[in-house]
Amino acid sequence: MDKKQLYESLLPQVSALLQGETNPVTNMANFSAVLFHGLPDLNWVGFYTVQGEELLLGPFQGRPACMRLKKGKGVCWAAAASGQTVVVKNVHDFAGHIACDGATNSEIVVPVRVNGEIWGVLDIDSPEVGRFDETDKLFLEKAVETFVKNTQF
Ligand code: SME
Repeated sequence: MDKKQLYESLLPQVSALLQGETNPVTNMANFSAVLFHGLPDLNWVGFYTVQGEELLLGPFQGRPACMRLKKGKGVCWAAAASGQTVVVKNVHDFAGHIACDGATNSEIVVPVRVNGEIWGVLDIDSPEVGRFDETDKLFLEKAVETFVKNTQF
């Protein structure tokens, strides 16, 4: 199964899992788990939510992570501040990258937009260099849209 086919089978599972539940914490928790266990070569999947000038750690799968990310530094804030998905092929080449797990070598961060405002980010890390590409970006953005549609904020 190639990457596109894998996402095409995973996205309906994401949708089914969130169906009928609207609590943000509950949906972030199961969303993280289904992606973490459904996609290969990941070491971390989780959410940060915007709390003023900080991004606060939310539900995740993986090793314990940095709890508060201060505005202006790191990949998560780059995505939150620009409102665009950020794909980092090698985190060691990204100035200001915040290392929570030494195993991480690449990362993708998808902004979570609610009613036009950046509400948080989905952050996914991999031990493989260059793990994430345009296909991941496309399908993870769709997955985040499903999360937003099913959730009451
Ligand atoms: N690497 C992120 C911090 C969060 S951890 O990867 C879970 C960043 O640079 O913002």
